[in-house]
Amino acid sequence: MLKVSHPFDALMDITGRPQTIFVRGEGSYLWDDTGKRYLDFIQGWAVNCLGHAPDVMAEAIAAQAKLLITPSPAFYNAPSLKLAKASVENSCFDRVFFANSGAEANEGAIKLARKYGALHKAGAYEIITFEGGFHGRTLATMSASGKKAFAPLFEPKVPGFRKAKLNDLASVEQLINSNTVAVMLEPIQGEAGVWPATDQFLQELRALTHDHGLLLIVDEIQTGMGRTGKLFHYEHACITPDIMTLGKGIGGGVPLAALLATGGASCFEHGDQGGTFNGNPLMCAVGLAVLEQVAEPAFLRAAAEAGQCLEAELQKLSARHGLGEVRGRGLLLALDLKLPIGTAIVAQAFEAGLLLNSPRPDALRFMPALNLTRQEIAEMIDQLDAILTRCGAARRVA
Ligand SMILES: Cc1ncc(COP(=O)(O)O)c(C=O)c1O
Repeated sequence: MLKVSHPFDALMDITGRPQTIFVRGEGSYLWDDTGKRYLDFIQGWAVNCLGHAPDVMAEAIAAQAKLLITPSPAFYNAPSLKLAKASVENSCFDRVFFANSGAEANEGAIKLARKYGALHKAGAYEIITFEGGFHGRTLATMSASGKKAFAPLFEPKVPGFRKAKLNDLASVEQLINSNTVAVMLEPIQGEAGVWPATDQFLQELRALTHDHGLLLIVDEIQTGMGRTGKLFHYEHACITPDIMTLGKGIGGGVPLAALLATGGASCFEHGDQGGTFNGNPLMCAVGLAVLEQVAEPAFLRAAAEAGQCLEAELQKLSARHGLGEVRGRGLLLALDLKLPIGTAIVAQAFEAGLLLNSPRPDALRFMPALNLTRQEIAEMIDQLDAILTRCGAARRVA
């Protein structure tokens, strides 16, 4: 029998992680098993929109767990019906399919587009996606992604994805042919380093896809659920996409995702889509509790204001340390460091009890809880200021 010599050995080693074990979370803070406290500006990778362990989620989980955990996806259950209704009432979509992860929701979107192509566009199946885009880690969603590091992995790729350039309409237009059925994009490319599509580009893309009879799919797995200061990012551009995927924030920290479609795009037939845990009442009850909070106009207003405050503070910090632009929207922001020092800053921040992310060597990404306080923003800025000062001093000495 395999002897486990180290507490970390039994898990597949799929990424570099600090050898720290987190045991508790509350709001914007996490604690490890030594009692050290961390201010969390990652929040499960833009997941915990209400912060760690909010009462509303704990109560929803406990209440639903005592009532019904899963009757089978072959039967209706009340929380999934309620969450589906609330989701369509708060968006421009008419139908919802619940999934367990963002990648699975995007797989569903790809399948739905291909089904639409089979039914309405003579078998068209190609989807135009974007260089730098990230849509997940299943085979099809890795193929849809434009992440360079994915290119050599797990060949052969799933065919049917052509890559255009973000904010370059001509690059999209060039790729349209009789096989094209849809265009799919993240309104802000999060994993690539927080690169926003402009509102104008989104509007022009909507017009272009309309003109060619193509579906427009927005992957709002990172930008949705209030992250950018509106419930869904597409609202900023005043467009109506045909399909949207949600993940991360929709469950506030539990595995829940969704595929939403307009009536015209919603064309699955029996047998096309499903899954054992899809739409299970436990996760949907949590999703409902989260949506009830996040969709409140006052909550969204406060999140947008917190985003403006964080952006302004990051801009001041950038000016103080001679760094680059602050980009993004709401509480999905990046600070351009101008130098490949992101990994070193993240490591120093971790030591100091601050959780930050560096999605590319020359940038930091900020994705805190949507209900964070001004005090927490000030605390993060102070800590980062001190680290940048030390880095600057080290650079000057070197
Ligand atoms: C825009 C986007 N799409 C899809 C995914 C994949 O979601 P998941 O990790 O839940 O499969 C992510 C995750 O980071 C994402 O940011």
